[in-house]
Amino acid sequence: MPHPDTRTLAADDAGLAEAAGLLAAGRLVAFPTETVYGLGADARSDEATAAIFAAKNRPQTNPLIVHVESLDRARGLAEFPADALRLAEAFWPGPLTLVLPLKPGHGLAPRVTAGLGTVGLRVPGTDLARRLIAAAGTPVAAPSANPSGRVSPTSAAHVLQGLSGRIAAVLDGGPCAVGLESTIVGFDPEPTLLRPGGLPSEAIEACLGRALALRTEGAPLTAPGQMESHYAPAAHLRLNVIAPDPGETLIGFGPVAAPLNLSPSGDLHEAAATLFHTLRLLDERGATRAAVSPIPEVGLGRAINDRLRRAAAPRPQDPA
Ligand code: TXA
Ligand code: MG
Repeated sequence: MPHPDTRTLAADDAGLAEAAGLLAAGRLVAFPTETVYGLGADARSDEATAAIFAAKNRPQTNPLIVHVESLDRARGLAEFPADALRLAEAFWPGPLTLVLPLKPGHGLAPRVTAGLGTVGLRVPGTDLARRLIAAAGTPVAAPSANPSGRVSPTSAAHVLQGLSGRIAAVLDGGPCAVGLESTIVGFDPEPTLLRPGGLPSEAIEACLGRALALRTEGAPLTAPGQMESHYAPAAHLRLNVIAPDPGETLIGFGPVAAPLNLSPSGDLHEAAATLFHTLRLLDERGATRAAVSPIPEVGLGRAINDRLRRAAAPRPQDPA
């Protein structure tokens, strides 16, 4: 259904009630989490979840994360191995998604899990998101609220840039505090890092008392490399650059002279929170070539570097 009049709802009681009512009625509502804005729909509705894939132009083979307001609700949908329970108790609400075996009678629309026997579950870190889900009275399926293949949105304005006219409303809760998508952990049966993200893997490993196994995101779902260029700005990016070439726009990190800087003080939390907005600014400046300062491969730096590598990966339309 087209929405020439995508509404912007305020993050107050009236806006929240309106957004919850739209979700309960099977409409699409973008909402803020601590990581990025999600494009929400009733996860039990076949039609509403089909509309997510249509609005984003998302391949049907790519399953959606289901958002719930509490661990209790999550336990009604999926089986929690001991390690998963430990992580949920330590880090929920927060930027961690757990991929878990579905429980019989879960009630989720099959397309949410792309027909898999597992579901990605998360309790988002903001009160606003949890209140919205509770008021909607249903689990909320929500991928990042961007057209497939583009940079995830960290503000309501970003959401409208990509999806205005394609969704019923966006709930405007201001900029996202974390700024990177959630860390995804699966259990097959060893705890496995499926996507680095807003919760540093060091924190997860400290909680488990052992290292996470590594696997590429989506490896069992898609051909290797298929999802590589995933967070793409229009500009071509070169990473780990100390001295940019003439004509390259430098995205700095730390005290370097650069027109754009993820964090002049070299703070990884600040860099995570500003990364996606900065990639959008490149496009707004019409930059065709950009270079990025080295970012340390520790803590949130791992997820920042992962997103930068995807943004820098060759694209299908590139000349061979
Ligand atoms: O922070 C986030 O995770 C945000 C906010 C809105 O919660 N959501 C998000 O969703 O980033 P999305 O759809 O952009 O990324 C979800 C990733 C996809 O790569 C998908 O393949 C993977 O999670 N995923 C979801 N369910 C899965 C499952 N059952 N098995 C394996 N991977 C799964
Ligand atoms: Mg996404």
